[in-house]
Amino acid sequence: MRVRNVYLWCKRNVSDLVDDVLKIQAEAKAAGEDQADLLTDVNVRQVVADIFGAGIDTTVNTMNWCIAYMVNYPDVQTKVQKEIDDVIGQRLLTDKNKLPYCEAVIHEVMRIRTVLPLNVPHLTLEDTSVGGYNIPKGTQIWTNLWKLHMDEKYWMEPEQFRPERFLDEDGQALPKQDSFLPFSVGRRACVAEVLAKNEILLIFTCLFQQFTFLPAPGKEKPSLEPNFQALVTRCIPYEVVARERISGDSGT
Ligand code: HEM
Repeated sequence: MRVRNVYLWCKRNVSDLVDDVLKIQAEAKAAGEDQADLLTDVNVRQVVADIFGAGIDTTVNTMNWCIAYMVNYPDVQTKVQKEIDDVIGQRLLTDKNKLPYCEAVIHEVMRIRTVLPLNVPHLTLEDTSVGGYNIPKGTQIWTNLWKLHMDEKYWMEPEQFRPERFLDEDGQALPKQDSFLPFSVGRRACVAEVLAKNEILLIFTCLFQQFTFLPAPGKEKPSLEPNFQALVTRCIPYEVVARERISGDSGT
């Protein structure tokens, strides 16, 4: 009876991932499927915890860095707003692939302040070798994405914040560079790369369409020093003012 109630409730109310997982679980149980017990309540909790754990800190910190950099680089913020005004105007949606400068700014923020600088740890399941080094089974592996994004072999003056490095001479997006891997690579790369890129672009364009971010009165601009904590590159907490824009006003 309980299963049937959950199933009926879910059928009417699926509005997010949690509902969807519960619905799949309830459907499997209601259908008496052999393997229904494989999606236990513990699994459901784990899926939800994984998604929130992996999805929220990364996105929030990326947005925190975007705002910190825009306050420190008001000329870049003005160019971002001009592109948004020209392409989107006051509409509520965004136009992926038509906002090369905004995307270049987001990429440059993700490069210069890689939110997962050492990726997440992996374990070798068998003896292997990489670049001539033998790595025994059971070795914990950390990949240094920070180094990749700061390597002078691939990036000229990597400490400089320069969104144009992701654009060609005509201001159009360059193809993705091999040395740019904020979402890692391979079979265990971020499952939500496409979602994350889209949601960050959407939040970014909505914010700078509606607001100009400025230093808070009497406060320093946000520090750009990285604060490495629990795998994540965080900002040192800062205060800024979000001033509502009058259409077309850069306000900086
Ligand atoms: C700026 C945003 C994000 C960045 C930079 C990012 C980056 C990463 C990285 C580097 C990994 C590790 C890949 C590896 O093990 O080699 C990862 C894994 C993962 N991410 Fe993201 N991520 C972001 C947003 C999200 C979002 C929004 C979600 C979910 C809605 C998400 C879900 C996951 C999950 C579930 C994994 C584990 C994948 C697996 O082990 O198979 N991420 N992410």
